[in-house]
Amino acid sequence: MITVGIAGTGFYLPERVLRNADLEKMVDTSDEWIVSRTGIRERRIASDREATSDLAISAAREALRDGSIDPEEIDLIIVCTSTPDMLFPATACIVQEAIGAKKAGAFDLEACCTGFVYGLSVGSQFIKAGTYKTVLVIGADIFSRIIDWTDRNTCILFADGAGAAVLKPAKDEKVILATQLGSDGSLANLIAQPAGGSRQPATYKTIDKRLHYLKMDGRRVFRVAVEIADRATRDVLEECSLSTEDIDCLILHQANARILEAIARRLELPGSKVFINLDRYGNASAASIAIALAEVAREGQLKKGSIVVIIGFGSGMTWASCVIKW
Ligand code: ACO
Repeated sequence: MITVGIAGTGFYLPERVLRNADLEKMVDTSDEWIVSRTGIRERRIASDREATSDLAISAAREALRDGSIDPEEIDLIIVCTSTPDMLFPATACIVQEAIGAKKAGAFDLEACCTGFVYGLSVGSQFIKAGTYKTVLVIGADIFSRIIDWTDRNTCILFADGAGAAVLKPAKDEKVILATQLGSDGSLANLIAQPAGGSRQPATYKTIDKRLHYLKMDGRRVFRVAVEIADRATRDVLEECSLSTEDIDCLILHQANARILEAIARRLELPGSKVFINLDRYGNASAASIAIALAEVAREGQLKKGSIVVIIGFGSGMTWASCVIKW
């Protein structure tokens, strides 16, 4: 079987910064509440001119530059998003044209905040099987467009951004050792955008009821996320004959600092091994882990052979894991 590696990474963040002090003027909240309950201090918000594909294109270009990869080498583009430019065509097709990936197939993948890790797994399979040599996986979301800016329970959490990774047959670094996927549709109602699809198409009534905005049962998501991430980490490490003591860097979906701390406690990992950027970027859904992976690569602090574990979780509920030998 061919082994798969990460040949390049990149990310893009919109320029506009929304600080907790700005949210204090919009809803009944405080910087103190947001920082103590979530760890978030500021987040990026796309400009009115930007759509998800614009963010995705910038992240993709940087990943291609990072890996010195010509767009015409790309065989497949997977855009992981829950906030596509339009319901169809796929945002991946808009990216394909813009970056000049003339030989690539392109599709969108929807697994909400878990999307990018699902994308890494799906993209890897094409390379492992020998079908393709170069797969571009992008996590991109503009949650600011589906957030109810009058709901203090959710509007303080979410953010916009994009990150990308290019997968290729591995040389001897950043090798993907394993990926695993999971889902539990009995928890589908914990995080959802109820209207705008075939179940409840857009009508004046659905708009009046604010059903096109994200709805979330935050307390239950919190509990489920900690359990899922604990189990998913142990399961994927077991597949690689590794244990939690082997982890050099844990990249979790950047949902809430308290969730990340609770997971680290259960895995008995020191905080120094858990990557955090949510204080600066909030929860950027499918972009969250993609941005984090690119930042870890940029920081250059991991040694060759370090073990990186990536755990995504989100609406569905879905979860996914990936182990990379740096
Ligand atoms: N400012 C001030 N008070 C607030 C705010 C706010 N922004 N939001 C809620 N409160 C109030 C509530 O109304 C509640 O008041 P009450 O006791 O009078 O009813 C009180 O604070 C406590 O509310 P809780 O919901 O218990 O607060 P909690 O500590 O659980 O924090 C939060 C809420 C931050 C949403 C937390 O539950 C959480 O992070 N959950 C996980 C969410 C998550 O990770 N989602 C994303 C993962 S999946 C995906 O990305 C799609």
